[in-house]
Amino acid sequence: MASDKISVFFPANRSRGPKVRYMTYVVTESCIKCKYTDCVDVCPVDCFREGPNMLVIDPDECIDCTLCVAECPVEAIFAEDDVPVAQREFIPINAELSKVWKPLVERKPAPPDADDWEDVKEKKHLMEK
Ligand code: SF4
Ligand code: F3S
Repeated sequence: MASDKISVFFPANRSRGPKVRYMTYVVTESCIKCKYTDCVDVCPVDCFREGPNMLVIDPDECIDCTLCVAECPVEAIFAEDDVPVAQREFIPINAELSKVWKPLVERKPAPPDADDWEDVKEKKHLMEK
């Protein structure tokens, strides 16, 4: 349950105090057309948002717990400061689309052809909004 997860990591009064900006984590190109969603199950604050063929992280909700990084089979998730140069455009993409796309709070089946896209590096042009 999301509420149980939150209580472990997250002071109950955070929403009543000043907003704390943690370093965010960022979903990058490797997620496109893979969308395995393993990451969603471990997030204590449910900050993943789902687009048509990838997820993003809401930077205003991420609490820098690092748990999602190891869950992603295609290593799509980086700390904001560690995003490779070629992937840095995904920092504003996560910030912007997380305000438009809806939350995904439970793992769901990956697209049927997800495994075919695991090793494809050039996928930016295939991202659907
Ligand atoms: Fe969620 Fe990952 Fe941020 Fe942790 S680091 S709060 S699992 S998005
Ligand atoms: Fe994408 Fe990896 Fe999560 S493929 S949906 S960032 S587990």
